[in-house]
Amino acid sequence: MNLTINDINDTKCIATILAQHVKPNNVILLKGDLGVGKTTFSQFFGEALGVEGIISSPTFNIIKSYDARLPFHHMDCYRLEGAEDDLGFDDYFYGNGVCLVEWPQMIEDFLPEDYLTIEILRVDEMRREMMIVANGKQSVQLLEVLNDEITKH
Ligand SMILES: Nc1ncnc2c1ncn2[C@@H]1O[C@H](COP(=O)(O)OP(=O)(O)O)[C@@H](O)[C@H]1O
Ligand SMILES: [Mg+2]
Repeated sequence: MNLTINDINDTKCIATILAQHVKPNNVILLKGDLGVGKTTFSQFFGEALGVEGIISSPTFNIIKSYDARLPFHHMDCYRLEGAEDDLGFDDYFYGNGVCLVEWPQMIEDFLPEDYLTIEILRVDEMRREMMIVANGKQSVQLLEVLNDEITKH
């Protein structure tokens, strides 16, 4: 599915719909250049999932976990480029929470089989293109729900 995002409110809307419908073990990969809006998307997502307080960029911590409707694991793997260490990713991916992963390209060997990929492209200051692709049954379901909800809006 391809979406045209006109401003930050559109980003919030997509992140919120996803947060309302994610299930345990959903994994969402966020791809796109620096500054395109991956962390912003994650913050809206976490907020809508019920995280209280501030969701900061996990660039320096790599993984940050929050309590919400479901445990929320926010990862930024940018600094893992070239690293071969498994930081115990399976505990996060298969631990009944939901994971959002910025820079998943850095941990390709450790990714689960089922994930939703959101690739964000910058069009201009405010506008973005989002290309959303599902791999696996759980993510196909999530994408179907997202599609239904967007059609309703
Ligand atoms: N439509 C949009 N969606 C998301 N962020 C946007 C949008 N328009 C402008 N921005 C701005 O772009 C920046 C994105 O930064 P950030 O989320 O940290 O990017 P990344 O995590 O991808 O490096 C923020 O300053 C945000 O306010
Ligand atoms: Mg970021």
